[in-house]
Amino acid sequence: MRRVLRYLLALVALAVIGAAAFFFWPASLPDVSAARARVPQGEASIRRGEYIARAADCEACHTLGNGARYAGGLPFHLPFGTIYASNITPDKETGIGQWSDAEFVRAVRQGVSRDGHNLYPAFPYTAYALMSDEDVLALKDYIFSLPPARSVAPAADLSFPFNQRYLMRGWNLLFKPSGPYQPDPQRSPEWNRGAYLVEGLGHCGECHTPRNQLFARDEGRKFAGALTAGWMAYNLTSDREVGIGAWSDQQIADYLSKGHAEGRGSASGSMAEAVEYSLRFLTSDDIHAMVTYLRTVPPQRGGADITVNTDPPSLRASTAFSPPPEQTADATLGLTLFQGACASCHGWNGEGLQHSHAALRGSQTVNDPAATNLLQVLIHGSHMETNDGSVFMPAFGRAYSDPELAALANYVIGHFGGKPSKVTPADVAKARNID
Ligand code: HEC
Ligand code: HEC
Ligand code: HEC
Repeated sequence: MRRVLRYLLALVALAVIGAAAFFFWPASLPDVSAARARVPQGEASIRRGEYIARAADCEACHTLGNGARYAGGLPFHLPFGTIYASNITPDKETGIGQWSDAEFVRAVRQGVSRDGHNLYPAFPYTAYALMSDEDVLALKDYIFSLPPARSVAPAADLSFPFNQRYLMRGWNLLFKPSGPYQPDPQRSPEWNRGAYLVEGLGHCGECHTPRNQLFARDEGRKFAGALTAGWMAYNLTSDREVGIGAWSDQQIADYLSKGHAEGRGSASGSMAEAVEYSLRFLTSDDIHAMVTYLRTVPPQRGGADITVNTDPPSLRASTAFSPPPEQTADATLGLTLFQGACASCHGWNGEGLQHSHAALRGSQTVNDPAATNLLQVLIHGSHMETNDGSVFMPAFGRAYSDPELAALANYVIGHFGGKPSKVTPADVAKARNID
């Protein structure tokens, strides 16, 4: 009850600030002519913009399945309704073909559309606010070099009061950085580049930082780990037990650029998308800059507090081709299913058989007794393009019942994570209903 009251009070405060900002502070356009003069013309800017579009992962959200690139339409299900990514191809009628430099920069860095209405922060402009105007203009040159596509995204469908876009003005005053990234002179250029990429373009905190009651990133718990669309985006802090503090630099770099780190597991779900559309295209200098910055993120708990057992006895007693004899002697439903459907690719000792990405030892996913990501991987499978080819795991959501998937999950956590778990058929049913 007190939570609800605090939440309502905060909403009223937002409405008041938003209304005041609406009347006293009309959405003005930034002056970007000086920045424009500093951006090289033509092909050079387009290539720089392409790199920035990748680092900022614009395409993953603005492209629908096999629809035209950047033509929008992808739904975003929020707790209070659904919004759709816009068409940002240079189509003059249905895209952003008529937008000026200033209008584009204002949208990306301030979350305001061409006609002055506020955008919702499912579009991560609160991270892009840290971008330099020069980078945003190069990005515009790239997007405007792409073929225009005619496509109108469905209108947002939000309940009151969340459909009042002007409320976002109050929210922005509280939660949006006001200026571009300011380098920290105490730190190396590499660290500053990493911070710019992680906090700004890469918007890693959008998924990995827990949110407060007003759905803003809770920077006091930066990178503690958070649930997003049914997946746990794990703890990225330097905590050695529940974060990535005990990972080597090479492991972090490999995970980001290849979607797999030896001894730490593989990326699936939205992280596989981040690797496929964005991170695998970054230069190794930029990947290492990100690692340098991530290393210094202070330890946090209270988000995804999963401890990983990298060497459970059950794995030590297994070979690639067989589990410990006592498991087979007393075969459970979970073991039988794993033997039939999984062992040929994953093997029994955690090292993977079909592909290096199939190694399960040390992965958070098989160490989480709540099985959050494990159930999503089992239900939806996994697919990722890497620079070394495609990585694939089939979906098992249709093949198996809720009790079967629960048994499978409990077996996988026990065997590969070395811990007891109590995943129930009801948990599986719940996991199926997240989109
Ligand atoms: C996490 C998903 C996501 C990412 C990443 C993302 N966008 Fe968006 N974008 C959206 C959504 C959703 C909307 C619609 C917001 C709304 O309706 O309030 C949007 C709206 C926009 C708009 C406003 C269009 C209009 O007609 O008002 C522009 C411009 C835009 N995005 C550009 C970009 C660029 C450039 C990038 C990369 C730097 C990017 N977006 C990355 C989800 C995303
Ligand atoms: C759209 C949401 C999203 C974004 C954006 C995102 N991540 Fe993730 N990340 C996830 C999810 C979900 C997982 C868990 C993946 C899994 O279980 O296979 C994850 C896992 C990870 C892991 C593995 C952690 C572990 O302990 O296993 C690392 C490292 C990571 N992300 C780094 C990053 C960095 C750096 C960025 C920014 C460049 C980033 N992520 C952006 C959702 C996201
Ligand atoms: C055709 C081979 C194949 C089969 C069959 C298969 N997997 Fe996978 N699995 C993979 C690959 C490859 C990955 C890595 C996916 C990625 O990186 O996108 C993976 C990923 C996973 C992950 C996530 C690993 C992580 O670090 O987050 C889990 C858990 C998993 N599989 C469990 C299973 C279970 C349980 C079964 C049986 C029901 C199964 N897999 C069947 C190939 C397979």
